[in-house]
Amino acid sequence: MQNIKDEIAKKIKDILISEGFSVTESDISAFIEKPSDSVMGDLALPCFKLARLLKSAPPRIAAELNEKIGELPLIIKTEAVGGYLNFFVDSDYYSNLLDDIAKNPTFGSSDIGKDKVVCVDFSSPNISKRFHLGHIGSTVIGNSLRNIYAFCGYKCVAINHLGDWGTQFGKLIVAYKMWSSKEKVDERGINELEQLYVRFCKEEKDNKALSDEARAAFTQLENGNREYLEMWQYFKEISIKEYQKTYALLEITFDSYNGEAFFSDKMPAVVEELKKKGLLVLDDGASIVRLDQYNMPNALILKTDGSTLYPTRDIAAAIWRKKEYDFDKCIYVTSAGQSLHFAQWFKIVELMGYDWYKGLVHVPYGTMSFGGEKLASRTGNIISLEDLLTESVAKCEKIIEEKNALLADKKSVARAVGVGAVIFNALANSRIKDTNFVWEDALSFEGNTGPYVQYTYARSASVLRKSENGIDNYDDNEYKNPLSEEIELIKRLSEFPEAVLRALEENEPSIISRHMLSICTAFNQFYHNCPILKSEGALRAFRLKLTQAVKQVLGNALDLLGMKRTEEI
Ligand code: ARG
Repeated sequence: MQNIKDEIAKKIKDILISEGFSVTESDISAFIEKPSDSVMGDLALPCFKLARLLKSAPPRIAAELNEKIGELPLIIKTEAVGGYLNFFVDSDYYSNLLDDIAKNPTFGSSDIGKDKVVCVDFSSPNISKRFHLGHIGSTVIGNSLRNIYAFCGYKCVAINHLGDWGTQFGKLIVAYKMWSSKEKVDERGINELEQLYVRFCKEEKDNKALSDEARAAFTQLENGNREYLEMWQYFKEISIKEYQKTYALLEITFDSYNGEAFFSDKMPAVVEELKKKGLLVLDDGASIVRLDQYNMPNALILKTDGSTLYPTRDIAAAIWRKKEYDFDKCIYVTSAGQSLHFAQWFKIVELMGYDWYKGLVHVPYGTMSFGGEKLASRTGNIISLEDLLTESVAKCEKIIEEKNALLADKKSVARAVGVGAVIFNALANSRIKDTNFVWEDALSFEGNTGPYVQYTYARSASVLRKSENGIDNYDDNEYKNPLSEEIELIKRLSEFPEAVLRALEENEPSIISRHMLSICTAFNQFYHNCPILKSEGALRAFRLKLTQAVKQVLGNALDLLGMKRTEEI
């Protein structure tokens, strides 16, 4: 479509220049848009954008340009409607587009990231707590971004920056010593650790001595106290074992599990560097970097007792990653609650004189509630992601049993759809929006859901399976003048690469999930209104080719979101 846009822009520029106005082709090109309704054509120029320059009313501009525009390649008709000049594209154009899509199994991919490296820091749960629903956002958004960048040619490093260091481990150590034992933890695993933490947080509210003890314990841990390090190592092993089960269900892997603790011995050098560069200031015994002139609260780097903090560890991690991976971009996917944290330490990296700070990107997302209730680990209102996924799979198994009892391999289909439903639910809306998980919405086979897109994909696969002698035996080029349902579908498919690029630019997987829904709607309309298998000759071949292209594009989109391709449901 871009080439057609360029032709239109060039022609209009020529007309206006010949009349003595000063405009450029790219000015005009930027004005041209896609009408929301295809009755209004395939492209439109909103003439009010030119009203000021031409000192004329938009309907008049539209009418005059319409008279002067003459012939344009691939445009069969132009129409002035109100203040708009509408363009109708020749249907041959769409048949050719379909050829391009069908020939290219990785349609939508690109090499804009060639020779570039992107680190994606995502999921990153805090150990000793169950992997809960609050982390689904970071986990699936991050994983999807990593897939999108890879699809665009980037080399991706998937990093799980485990929250395995910090005062909370002081709390846990004190709680463990007071109320628990190895036997109990061996038996109850991460549930025991989590309960200890919740109980500690409750009790320290009325007992400040406990907080002091926890802080002291963490300082000792940082100073290498053997006993504490062993406990911490044990808590970490229990936690990772637990997380692996969730990652296995989601089929997500990481290139690195270097979490906060990994950077603990790299902190003194950072503190030293901050000092040398004159950025560190003493404030009531603690060390801070002043950020007030950047309209941000000052950042705490070292506490009064000398222990380091979350921002300090993030700075150390970024410097280390730059050396290790030489990234062009380093993306951090966390809840929006951490936006200030990232803004602060990104600024500090800038002030340290590292110009690669420009490649640091925070990708925030909104909060997740369940059935309308907020989740919080301090109060113990936690829903484990593993439980949720397992339950979703079980529910899908039941639905499949009712709808298609004869399906082969029901278990693996239920797993793909059950897990896919949770993933799609988390990626369906702009990430910054707060979401609420409701079973009926996530699992419905109709509406904007994972089961709906996976079902549509399976439908395309099933048509192709049944087509026997397939696409290649006919010459579909004999089929002229595709129907509006067919054109609509080709349009949606042809827009896929644009959607992928936008998703990458905005770090927004929902652009792909939404685009996918529009393809599904167009395909289902085509499927209901245009017989595929029952038609003949060139028409049959054309429709099969279209179905093949749908399967290909939906398949790629499912991959990008981190969902399974379901050949049968
Ligand atoms: N562990 C943090 C949390 O659970 C997220 C870490 C994000 N990554 C980072 N480099 N700060 O909220």
